[in-house]
Amino acid sequence: MHHDSTVTHLRNGGTSVIVDLVGDGMPEILFWGADQGDLSDRELGDVARATRAQRVSGGLDQPARLTVLPQESNGWQGTPGLTGSRQGHFFSPALRATEFVNTPATLAIDAVDEISHLAVHAILAIDAAGVFSQSITVTNTGDDVYELNDLCITVPLPVSATEILDTTGRHLRERSPQRHAFTQGRHQRDSRKGRPGADATLLLAAGTPGFGFERGLVHAVHLAFSGNYRLAAEKLVTGSAFLQAGELLAPGEIRLAPGASYSTPTVIASWGDGLTELSARIHTRLRARDVHPRTPRPVTLNTWEAVYFDHDLSRLTALAESAARVGVERYVLDDGWFHGRRDDTSSLGDWYVDADVWPDGLGPLIDVVTGLGMQFGLWVEPEMVNPDSDLARAHPDWLLQAAGRLPVEGRQQQVLDLSHPDAYAYLLERLDALLAEYPIGYLKWDHNRDLVDAGSTRTGAPAVHDNVVALYSLLDELKARHPGLEIESCASGGARVDLGILDHTDRIWTSDCIDPIERLTIQKYTGLLVPYELMGAHISGPESHSTGRRHDLSLRAGVALFGHLGIEWDIAALSDADEAELIGWIDLYKANRALFHTGTSVHVDHADPAVDLRGVVAADRSEAMFVFSLVATSAAYPVGPLRFPGLDDDTRYLVTLVNREFTGIGNGQSPLVWAEQPIILTGRALGSIGLQGPVLFPEHLAIFQITSV
Ligand code: GLA
Repeated sequence: MHHDSTVTHLRNGGTSVIVDLVGDGMPEILFWGADQGDLSDRELGDVARATRAQRVSGGLDQPARLTVLPQESNGWQGTPGLTGSRQGHFFSPALRATEFVNTPATLAIDAVDEISHLAVHAILAIDAAGVFSQSITVTNTGDDVYELNDLCITVPLPVSATEILDTTGRHLRERSPQRHAFTQGRHQRDSRKGRPGADATLLLAAGTPGFGFERGLVHAVHLAFSGNYRLAAEKLVTGSAFLQAGELLAPGEIRLAPGASYSTPTVIASWGDGLTELSARIHTRLRARDVHPRTPRPVTLNTWEAVYFDHDLSRLTALAESAARVGVERYVLDDGWFHGRRDDTSSLGDWYVDADVWPDGLGPLIDVVTGLGMQFGLWVEPEMVNPDSDLARAHPDWLLQAAGRLPVEGRQQQVLDLSHPDAYAYLLERLDALLAEYPIGYLKWDHNRDLVDAGSTRTGAPAVHDNVVALYSLLDELKARHPGLEIESCASGGARVDLGILDHTDRIWTSDCIDPIERLTIQKYTGLLVPYELMGAHISGPESHSTGRRHDLSLRAGVALFGHLGIEWDIAALSDADEAELIGWIDLYKANRALFHTGTSVHVDHADPAVDLRGVVAADRSEAMFVFSLVATSAAYPVGPLRFPGLDDDTRYLVTLVNREFTGIGNGQSPLVWAEQPIILTGRALGSIGLQGPVLFPEHLAIFQITSV
């Protein structure tokens, strides 16, 4: 419908967005946050008047407003929403909104600048989960090239936001949280790696001082895109505070010919009283997608840490037999199966089954795997190529590069230019042929280096954007040709985790580090964006291959339970006792995966950093499972009561310890009173009074099953 009032109110899923359509040429978002109830046009007009700032001394005569596309032409002196030029001319757009179309939860805006010859189309929407999303398209309506430098989405923050949370990281340690005071100036996180990167922040969040998972008003943005990007939080002397998100474009990367358009990736914005609520909105949004995986997430065995490059049919057969015995449902053959690939120095690109190692092809192994009732999966790294490969020798012009100079290598790799039609066609043919020849239900799709100097030999221009677009199309084409095919996004672990890739794949490999102590942090902060069912979490061997630490199976399995569970461990020669214990954990996963994969994930803010308490509460709050991990020795001994938030206040719940036999209870301590006989408490009591946690050794955990009675 066309709008005739000047202030519009979008509402959905507990979220309100109030937009002053008159704004400053472009509409101004007056408010984004908790639902404001039904407001009349007059009340909305009063909101607009209430929030209008005065002119101040020393300032411009017209106080600039924070619009959906802030522009210098309106006196805006913060970072603008759109920059570009026609060879240095028309550098300052003056877009003016001309048309609005809205529904109760969406607003489409058309704007034009007749002098700079630009047209803009913006879409604002709130979904049923209360997530606020935006995207903007700019079209060159002139008759010469418009070179776009930057187009980003801007969302306002409340004045209470004084602290920023983002994450950093590295290979084997993705998603380490960091906090900063949100003062005047700009806190900006860029990815210039052609993929988000191991250090990428999935969300950029700003909130009240010390906001946690359980409480504290917090707002955050995410860019659903797998290439270079920029997330920022900015606060101006005028009091304006906002988040911005957009693709980071290299010079000349987007040159719009007459009539051509560029669209931003979708920016997801969520808020909550605490991060648990903020994340729950995002998880609910993802779970409503048509492409969201809804079948039970199969217990996976990935061969990498079990055998590495030792591709031996009898060894892999024994591994498959053990896997089937413990209840594995998907068996994934990792790196090392293709032509010439005996280590990680060569052969990426040569996607033919190696005739020396696999003289009869993959058929004999796949027959074993499928004969045991498991699905077969295969590792690939299609975008990558080793200089030592037939492919690189035959097609040097398919390699991304700048000015005729090959990029610095990473893991002895270069990168194929998927925007080159021949390179794209080659990969499509190879992967399609493998999927047609063998019953492969799953691809682990890897991407093991950061991109630098990523230009196309055909155009000479930067090509990260085009490669991301081509990648999404290749993934979609393979899925269309092979219905039911699932794909995992891996990039040296978690270096390509974003909601762009997750619209074309079915889970992420969270990290190459499966040390459970490290994983607690990695999974907690990956989980801000990614729900458990999309987060690969494997049980490692007793000694972690990436940290050298040793842990009991209960810790390794209990941490992996809160994810999409798998095994990454040579289980071919387990003792009967170890095998029985592993089966117990896998059975526990299978009995509860419906809960893990549809419930609300909850983190408890505990004063002692040695205590990690997290859980999942069923959508109808009829049941929950929590895990208390003692990551180091605690200051308090015992740790004191543990609280279990997120349950229904008035429902009564039975609480039991699931892994009582593994916690060492009664090992020198007196019995834990409540665990001796069934205990029933209300959700209110569990969330506020709590109950005593068992005494644990450090690096051990206890799991609580909570069921309504
Ligand atoms: C990357 C992945 C690992 C494994 C290896 C294989 O490092 O993250 O899981 O697949 O490649 O080379």
